[in-house]
Amino acid sequence: MPTWDERFAAGEYPQNPEPSAVLREYVSSFPDGRALDVATGTGRNAVFLAESGYEVDALDQSREGLKVTRENAAEAGVEKRIEPIQADADTYEFPADRYAVITISYYRVLDRFPDIKEALVDGGVLFVEHHLRSTDGPLSGPSTDRYRFASNELLHACLDMTVLYYDETTTPHEGKHSATARIVARNTTGGRQSYPAVERGD
Ligand SMILES: C[S@@+](CC[C@H](N)C(=O)[O-])C[C@H]1O[C@@H](n2cnc3c(N)ncnc32)[C@H](O)[C@@H]1O
Repeated sequence: MPTWDERFAAGEYPQNPEPSAVLREYVSSFPDGRALDVATGTGRNAVFLAESGYEVDALDQSREGLKVTRENAAEAGVEKRIEPIQADADTYEFPADRYAVITISYYRVLDRFPDIKEALVDGGVLFVEHHLRSTDGPLSGPSTDRYRFASNELLHACLDMTVLYYDETTTPHEGKHSATARIVARNTTGGRQSYPAVERGD
């Protein structure tokens, strides 16, 4: 099995994919401040957040992925807004009370959720999307269910937050099915919440 460094160096992984659609839809409702993209890969969501005005920490353990992230940021003219962090997300000491936005796309890191939530400022927003278990098949993504969310697992992991958006979908993708869970959740501060308007695409 090739490492992520090898996959990025071989250009096997999409080098400059589109940002996540739900992130694109919700970003205008997010608070200002600093953002963190965990397991940034080639930086699609990190570059998008930088283009949206955020100073972004782009964390990944892959040197090659971060190299492509830097190139993509330079191409988009936002390299000054992106701080690459080469680190292992399994052991990284996330700074407390630091980020207005944290995004995690296609990296399963549930055991670090308590620390990741603590890294959000009051009212900060977490966006997560990841592969889901499904009876539709064959499925794209991980070969085993071990690396997929069970139904509602992501939702359950965020029930101490205000859930602004949640979905589980299965869509046809390159001859297979892509099953995905997505959440947008706000760091809850007591019993009072606000629900900024979101312009829905549908
Ligand atoms: C499927 S890619 C997703 C990349 C990006 N978030 C996206 O959605 O396009 C998974 C990423 O997780 C990174 N990764 C895997 N294990 C990691 C770890 N322990 N710490 C930090 N990054 C890790 C890989 O290097 C790779 O960039």
